[in-house]
Amino acid sequence: MTLQPGRNAAGDGRGGHRRVLVTGAAGMLGSAVLAALDRTSAQVFRTDIKTGWLHLDVRDRDAVHHVVSVVRPDLVIHLAAETDLEACEADPMHSWLTNAAGTEHVARAAAAVGATLVYVSTAGVFDGGADRPYVESDAPSPVNEYGRSKLRGEKLVTELCERAFVVRAGWMMGGGRLDHKFVGAVLGQLRDGADTVYAVGDRFGSPTYAADFARCLLRLVDTDRHGRYHMVGGGGPSRADVAAQILHEVGLSDRVRLVKVDSDHFADRYPVTRPRSEVLRNAALAKLGLNDMRPWQDALSHYLRTEFTPLDQIPPEMVLR
Ligand SMILES: NC(=O)c1ccc[n+]([C@@H]2O[C@H](COP(=O)([O-])OP(=O)(O)OC[C@H]3O[C@@H](n4cnc5c(N)ncnc54)[C@H](OP(=O)(O)O)[C@@H]3O)[C@@H](O)[C@H]2O)c1
Repeated sequence: MTLQPGRNAAGDGRGGHRRVLVTGAAGMLGSAVLAALDRTSAQVFRTDIKTGWLHLDVRDRDAVHHVVSVVRPDLVIHLAAETDLEACEADPMHSWLTNAAGTEHVARAAAAVGATLVYVSTAGVFDGGADRPYVESDAPSPVNEYGRSKLRGEKLVTELCERAFVVRAGWMMGGGRLDHKFVGAVLGQLRDGADTVYAVGDRFGSPTYAADFARCLLRLVDTDRHGRYHMVGGGGPSRADVAAQILHEVGLSDRVRLVKVDSDHFADRYPVTRPRSEVLRNAALAKLGLNDMRPWQDALSHYLRTEFTPLDQIPPEMVLR
């Protein structure tokens, strides 16, 4: 197999890792991580299950070992995952093969070549019952298959790799047109001309801007301070709060009605149990003096104005201020 590295911008001197292999590179977070890596001198190998990328299905143990042994990366950023909660619940075997077994394959292969491993996990490892933000030392107790499979991935990474970072993200926003999460969904409704947006007021989380996350992640990896970290934007809004902020940012607060509903409202479309709170605090990052994740409102504003500008998806009569 011939492995061609991705394009690299002229190095800016940042980043101690020279050969970086990324799994799940075609996803939302992948686009931001690749953009951040492009600003370093690293040689980047972009893999994904999707066509158009160096093909690597992390469920295939032999393929993972082969690619890693040929590339011999000194850093593996493992992003490949089944992130659809409903798909995980409907097919737990698929969820475990991708999120747990796939992670085991990547962790074993990274350890075999002495590479540092980054595993991106989720606030969904907690049960959501806490009335304060979760910190790294809190005991996880996931309430759904996605959370359980990601937690198993965390344990495998920690057991198998000495040089590992387990980094938990919150509600991801980023990737512009790749954004298939909440912010992307609300913008999609506005694009379709919705005059009413329904959003849940009884679930809380920490929105995490992928570009901020990627930048902060590369700084963290450079420290070699392996361990478990929370890396989220500041604050703990409900989905309805995020929707309100989106309407404000795009200048549609007066024209689109926001209806705050309980999560039961979406029970047919999103039947999987979700934690009440997925609010995290970046305690370990702060200890290292590396917590430069912005408050979620600032990050959302930046995201909408840069990655969605001009908001050409919004009908012309509903233009951005
Ligand atoms: N999105 C969030 O809100 C969020 C929050 C916290 C943590 N995370 C974690 O962050 C990481 C990146 O998530 P993301 O938001 O970028 O998700 P994403 O957009 O779904 O990207 C994941 C990528 O991995 C690919 N993939 C799926 N199965 C694979 C396999 N067996 N082998 C190789 N690639 C495979 C996906 O392809 P397909 O699209 O074809 O499946 C997709 O391109 C994941 O580990 C996720 O658990 C995400």
